[in-house]
Amino acid sequence: MRKNAMLALVLLLLSVTLTGCGSSAVNSQNKNEEAEIGQNLITVGFSQLGAESDWRSTNTESMLEALSQENGYNLIYKNGQQKQSNQITAIRMFIQQEVDYIVLAPAMETGWDSVLYEAKEAGIPVIIVDRRVDVVDKNLYSCWVGSDFELEGKKVTAWLKAFTEKKGISPEDVHIVNIQGTIGSTAQIGRSRGLANAARENGWDILDEVSGDFTETRGREVMASFLRKYDNVNVVYCENDNEAIGAIEAIENAGRKVGTNITGGEIMVVSFDGVNQEAINYAKEGKIACIAECNPHHGPRVASLIEALNSGKTPDKFNYVSEKLYSSFDDVEYVTVDGISYLIDEVE
Ligand code: AHR
Repeated sequence: MRKNAMLALVLLLLSVTLTGCGSSAVNSQNKNEEAEIGQNLITVGFSQLGAESDWRSTNTESMLEALSQENGYNLIYKNGQQKQSNQITAIRMFIQQEVDYIVLAPAMETGWDSVLYEAKEAGIPVIIVDRRVDVVDKNLYSCWVGSDFELEGKKVTAWLKAFTEKKGISPEDVHIVNIQGTIGSTAQIGRSRGLANAARENGWDILDEVSGDFTETRGREVMASFLRKYDNVNVVYCENDNEAIGAIEAIENAGRKVGTNITGGEIMVVSFDGVNQEAINYAKEGKIACIAECNPHHGPRVASLIEALNSGKTPDKFNYVSEKLYSSFDDVEYVTVDGISYLIDEVE
């Protein structure tokens, strides 16, 4: 009995020792492999501003896809829920985590100086995507990629001018309301400026402008209140497609007709983005008369900027994407803005 017990104990000890040796060897090999992979991955902290629109969801998808593990990235993604304070907290967290790069899609232009200074002090390059930041020291970020929002506004208003001229509608008969985007964001600032300048140059009447925060719900609410307040509104300039969808619903709920016969009682809707399928369908039907494209596919562009920085290159500071202008009305073939002509594309 005693002999058997001793043998069993020896065998048990042997097996524990062997198993232990084997697993620790495998573990350490795994750890080495992980460390190797971890070392090759570029760690990026991405602060997205929110999920207010279809444009934003498409933009987030593009970023997540391009900065994926398969593409060599270890991405830390944070949704700011439309609050700049959340985005600032996220950036501070990225700094603590010692990420290799920070990518920021800022909710608004101002208020970034301190946190971007902290990132610079920590030696982490920052890439700005989509909207811009308005900081005193432009060296606080490496580069930016996104749209020329004011140009988008100029294109839509150039189309409106050409269309009304073609139809013989005089400028004083154009009564516009503007459903603005999130106040203080580059998209809002640029598009509102594009409208304000065109209205002044062409003698159009801007009845009112109120923010719809780039959402369908606010677009509907703001349009409903405009309709209660003004009986002569005949053009609604929506600073994105989600607002346009809401505005169309409000117009129809009020028993009014959406269309281009603006001296015959219809209300014309113009908009921005060209991403949301419902809005594209409205454009095909002519309910949205003109859409300036805003391109959300920035993921691969940001990845190229990171690759350039990573290989010691200095990419251009400002990187604009080229964008189209859509309408299903063939009365206007092209518009010319700042000496450049843009063909009007059919909505697909
Ligand atoms: O900054 C881009 C704008 O933000 C898009 O036009 C809008 O849809 C989004 O919310």
